[in-house]
Amino acid sequence: MDTMIQPQRASHPSGERAEAELSKIGNTLITKFHVLMRLSQIYDSKNVALHQFIQESLLVINTFIEKQGSLSFKIVGDDIFLNEQRLRYSVEGFTSFKYLSTQWKKRLIGEVVYRQSLNEETLREFIYLLMDLEEGEEENAIRFHERLRQRGISSIDVYPLELLEGEKGDSILSKEDTREIAKKVFFETIGTVKEVITHIKGKQHADVRRLKRLVRKAVHLVMEDESILLGMATIKNYDEYTFNHSVNVAIYALAMGRRLGFSRSVLSELGITAMLHDIGKSKIPKDVLNKPAALNEEEWGQMKRHPITGVEIVLNLKQLGEVNPKMVIGIFDHHLKNDLSGYPKLFHHKGVSLFGRIIQIADAYDAMTTPRIYKKIPYTPEQALAIMLRDRDAHFDSILLKMFIGLVGVYPIGSLVLLDTREMGIIFKTNPDPQWIERPLVILVERGRQGKGEKKLIDLTERNGQNGFKRSIVKILDPNKYHIDIAKYFL
Ligand SMILES: [Fe+2]
Ligand SMILES: [Fe+2]
Repeated sequence: MDTMIQPQRASHPSGERAEAELSKIGNTLITKFHVLMRLSQIYDSKNVALHQFIQESLLVINTFIEKQGSLSFKIVGDDIFLNEQRLRYSVEGFTSFKYLSTQWKKRLIGEVVYRQSLNEETLREFIYLLMDLEEGEEENAIRFHERLRQRGISSIDVYPLELLEGEKGDSILSKEDTREIAKKVFFETIGTVKEVITHIKGKQHADVRRLKRLVRKAVHLVMEDESILLGMATIKNYDEYTFNHSVNVAIYALAMGRRLGFSRSVLSELGITAMLHDIGKSKIPKDVLNKPAALNEEEWGQMKRHPITGVEIVLNLKQLGEVNPKMVIGIFDHHLKNDLSGYPKLFHHKGVSLFGRIIQIADAYDAMTTPRIYKKIPYTPEQALAIMLRDRDAHFDSILLKMFIGLVGVYPIGSLVLLDTREMGIIFKTNPDPQWIERPLVILVERGRQGKGEKKLIDLTERNGQNGFKRSIVKILDPNKYHIDIAKYFL
């Protein structure tokens, strides 16, 4: 696939090391400023609660200034430059990176230079003056500069934001950055799941540490903006079904877990569990797994053992660290069904665990909407949700199912729709305002083009000047009939 991530070539090792080092310090500095800016919104400038954190920040900032002579942050487009070097941000540092650049851009501040070490008083003044600036005021940089001087601070210079060509004054950090990271995490995770499964199949030692790391990144991305990863989950790769399916189920499960208010650590456990839910299938022969016809009794028996085999495998994965019982039970439960009519058969009645109930829904939805060897034309998202709703009491936790529908939308992300303007669109993102649940964001499909080039994003809440809306959804279409590859629009 041409979108696969290429490994980075190791050129100029020393230069790269210096750059990596600077990026690391830069990310730490930005995180400090991010927290300070946030704290300033909660506490007043004299609050003693800030003292400890300001002292910690000063240590990092002043060490840098003493070493480098000065410290400058400059915003150019979507990048932040630290002392003239573009910063590479880490996935973990991304929120801070985005916050700082968004807040500065809103206030039209483009560059700040600290020419000398700061003291607590100076740093406090700087942060509070910055956050007090009114958004969108062109004079902000000059005003800020003057106010600093009025307070006797002459070692900090402030410059206005320079807009790049084509950039609008109100533009904030583009979503494209998050999307690029999401893409990378998505494909890297599929590759890693593939590796883990292949190793287990060959009775080799499987390294799950990388998988754990990637799940943590996915958790971060889902917290940031769930719609981007949900969009990636519309990629239903037919050839790599098992790997792709595992990652998609994890994405749906994480998005549900987030809405349930799970902490990051519980989300990570849920993500790993979802990622490994079908790991037991690695012990089923390929010709049974991919049989285009109905399974005979023996084959079906093999198939039904995969939740138990999965549990055995997970318990033996050493690097998984402490295996939480929730994870093991989640894998055991994922085909049990709400009325316990599924498998494995139980001697004692018990309910399905929460992880199990979440994964059941994610699993059913992804399996139904993906083409399989025995069902080449999958259900559309709408059809799949209708079937799940029909079976809600017997098969699923109906409250979780309701939540899931809210998540993928009345018009699920990835659906092809016909608009009243006779245009076709693909549901890109559910509208965050529940009032407009039936008016999501849509990408217009340009006929004859394969999703490349301009992607025109349309907000269906846009009005037409009179009383109506510019565009409305008429009905859902089947993308298979129109030969439209939905996934391409999400890459
Ligand atoms: Fe399964
Ligand atoms: Fe599955």
